Amino acid sequence: MSGHRVAVVPGDGTGPEVIAEAVKVLKAAADVFGFSMEYGDLDLSGERYLRTGQTLTAGDLDFLQQHDAILFGAIGHPEVKPGILEQEVLLRLRRELDQYINLRPVKLHQGVTSPLAGVTAEDVDFVVVRENSEGLYSGEGEFTAKGSAFEVAVQKSVNTRFGVERCVRYAFELASSRPGRHLTLCGKTNVLTYAWDLWQRVFDEVSSDYPDVTTAYAHVDAACLWMVEDPARFDVIVTDNMFGDIITDLGAAIQGGLGIASGANLNPSGVSMFEPIGGTAPGFEGTGKINPLAAIGAAAMMLDFLGERAASQAIESAVGQVAGSLPSLRAGEMGSTTTEVGDRVAHLVSKEEPAEATR
Ligand code: IPM
Ligand code: MN
Repeated sequence: MSGHRVAVVPGDGTGPEVIAEAVKVLKAAADVFGFSMEYGDLDLSGERYLRTGQTLTAGDLDFLQQHDAILFGAIGHPEVKPGILEQEVLLRLRRELDQYINLRPVKLHQGVTSPLAGVTAEDVDFVVVRENSEGLYSGEGEFTAKGSAFEVAVQKSVNTRFGVERCVRYAFELASSRPGRHLTLCGKTNVLTYAWDLWQRVFDEVSSDYPDVTTAYAHVDAACLWMVEDPARFDVIVTDNMFGDIITDLGAAIQGGLGIASGANLNPSGVSMFEPIGGTAPGFEGTGKINPLAAIGAAAMMLDFLGERAASQAIESAVGQVAGSLPSLRAGEMGSTTTEVGDRVAHLVSKEEPAEATR
């Protein structure tokens, strides 16, 4: 029996509620598919910061490094100045653990209504590969003459050949493993002539190693238009950190909202972190109205990454079935409570017949 050690970080807001449902489904999957999972809880939260002044300590990082993967809820607190927890916990985790890929699938499940009229499940099924450690998120920049009428604020986008290449390569690998075998580079070569010159050159170079993958280029503004007007043209999209942040919120919208949008912060040779991308959902905490499907989907991505493919697919398909049966995926509009939705997914997973080979 294969065993996995998972660090669980519920965090703030609705994080603990959705993570509880994800763990419930993982336990159901472990029973059916015959793997074992140990869970180690870690409190990284606004609550803890207010209590202790600590964000992410060396001890926290040590603890996380001793696990095979991290399941992360959400972080953010109304009494903590915006930016502190995002920078000092979430972005630092991604950087310290060198999770250089942010993988965000955009899939409209059968039966889910997209805000895009006339669009069906066949039209929306792509994955965004967002570079997760560089670009405008590098934190580089400066003020000159701060506070004066002549003040200048410079925010630098840092793009290293190493960082761009490993991201682009990951995207080509992913594209060549999917039936569509199509990869779109999403950038802004017409204006950001340093960063995107490098990206384009690296993309073209790496492309020659993947003759089976067809390629396209889209400026980020046009990509937004096409995600709305013709999402079926996309299979895998690779882009930088900032553009990836923006277009994946748009992606979440067209797949039915943040209630179903999962993401993975990947270090393919280290400790990766899986999260619902919707954040703390202020106002819904403790109401039982938040949708746990994004967190459950993140758990499915985690199992795939840990090599439990059959279990991952069973959860993914159960998530799809339950999503398709809800009147809406939005918090407060599901017609079911958070726990009921989690129970339904767990129930479907527990009825799965495991494939012989996975026993
Ligand atoms: C995301 C979030 C984060 C980001 C914030 C909370 C720092 O928006 O995961 O997309 O910008 O990456
Ligand atoms: Mn974001």
